[in-house]
Parts: sequence; structure tokens; C-alpha cells
Amino acid sequence: MSLFKRGPQGPRTYTGQRLPMIAGNWKMNKTMDEAIELVQQVSYGIEPKYDQCEVVICPPFTDIRSARVVLMTDNSPVRLAAQDVHPAPSGAYTGCISAAMIASLGCRYCIVGHSERREYFGETDADVAAKIAALRQNGLYPIMCCGESLEVRDAGQAIEFVTSQVRAGMAGMEAKDVEQSVIAYEPIWAIGTGRTATPDQAQEVCAAIRATVRGMFGNEAADSIRILYGGSMNPGNVDKFMPMADIDGGLIGGASLKHDSFLSLVHAAQLK
Ligand code: PGA
Repeated sequence: MSLFKRGPQGPRTYTGQRLPMIAGNWKMNKTMDEAIELVQQVSYGIEPKYDQCEVVICPPFTDIRSARVVLMTDNSPVRLAAQDVHPAPSGAYTGCISAAMIASLGCRYCIVGHSERREYFGETDADVAAKIAALRQNGLYPIMCCGESLEVRDAGQAIEFVTSQVRAGMAGMEAKDVEQSVIAYEPIWAIGTGRTATPDQAQEVCAAIRATVRGMFGNEAADSIRILYGGSMNPGNVDKFMPMADIDGGLIGGASLKHDSFLSLVHAAQLK
């Protein structure tokens, strides 16, 4: 499966066509047996006709190896991502996982800077930048999360806040790495709440993110990077987000934990 495809222009209006992405962030869910069952169901449900969307699953560390065995056995195009990484190459960091360990499990991506890590584990923009550097040194690409709280949005500072997260997190990257990277815009007030941003609100911020990437890394990087929306995306609302010019897919929490809802999202995100 090639990463970037050009196809007939659908409802999308941007130049070129970025391959949409649906990434399932399982968070701290699924024991090993549960994970194997879900990966088997997802793998079985991804038909060849679904090749107009890159499908990624982000299981907990403890499930990645088992997931990989299922995906390899099925020769599945579904790609793997980890949910976090420690920036150091190795050492005395009890409980942590390095980028080399993640790479050795066959992952292509790793989530960094999810708002839950920023909130519960004090992860800063500087940590995000250091983690991205560690990923790149090991051939992995970030799915870098950004997003504002309700207070920041109500103060009219969402765009300023989110673009500053992007600038700080990606500061050390090179343009060629940015092209294959992914940014997920996830307003904190929409995560797991059942409340989504409106498609226009999400598009406005995603456009500002792309403009920021353009300013930092140039046109090729800005036109290639996938920008996802995340925050209560589900089969009932995905169709409203996908036609937006700067939204290239979704980072899916709750709706990725059941194969039928996840597969509906993959189906809905296909390039039309
Ligand atoms: P949600 O989570 O889809 O359950 O809102 C999204 C995320 O946090 O990545």
C-alpha cells in the first residue's frame, strides 16, 4: 500500500490527495486475549477495497507483539503504533519503553503529547519534542497530539494555543520527516465526552495547523502531512468531518474498541 495516493478529486479541495488515516487509540484497554480478538476482527474486516485509507491501531505496549503476529499472519495492511515513548535511548527508567523497543515491534508510528499524558503525567512541549527526536532516530513517525481546553477556547485563544504546541513539538524536525508524520487535533473538551467540535471549528484549527507547518517546513511538508481530528469521532459524525479540506482522518478512542464501529469509520474515511 503506498502512503500517498493521487486519485479522482472527491469532495476534497486541496491540491493533491493525502491518503486518509483512521488511527485507533485503544488507551489502557484490552488484555492480551481481548486484543488478539479485536485485531483479528479488524484484520478480517479490512477488505482490499478499503485501501483508500491508511488504518492504524495503537494498542497498549503489552498487546503490540500479539497484534503484530495476527497482522503478519493475515498479511494485513493495518499498521501499528505505540501510545507513548521515553525519549532516552536506554537506561534506568523503570517502567518505560524506548523508541528502539517500539521500532523492534514493527510499529511505524507512536502517539506523542496526548492530552491525557500532558494532564496526568505532566508531559510538556519540550518532552514532546524530545520524544519526537527519539522516534525519528529509530525510523518511527509521530502522531503528535495537540488541543486546547475549554477555558482556552472560551478565551478565544484556541488557535494561538494549538499552533504554539505544534511549533514547540515539531521544532527539531526536518521537512522530509514531517511529510510522513501525523498531527492529531484533539480539543480536550471533546475527548471521551460525546461532545465534538463542530466540523467548522475543527477545520479552522486544522487549517491553522497546516499553515503553521507550511511556515516552518514549506509546501511539500504542509501538503503531505496528515492532520487528524480526534474527540468523540464515531460512525454517526465522521461524514461531517471527512469532507473538510484540512481534516485527513481521525484519531479514535472509544469507537476504536469495537470492530464494527472502527470498521465503519475506516469505510467512511475512504477517498471517494
Ligand atoms: P475519544 O478519544 O474518541 O474517545 O474521544 C480520542 C482520543 O483521545 O484520542
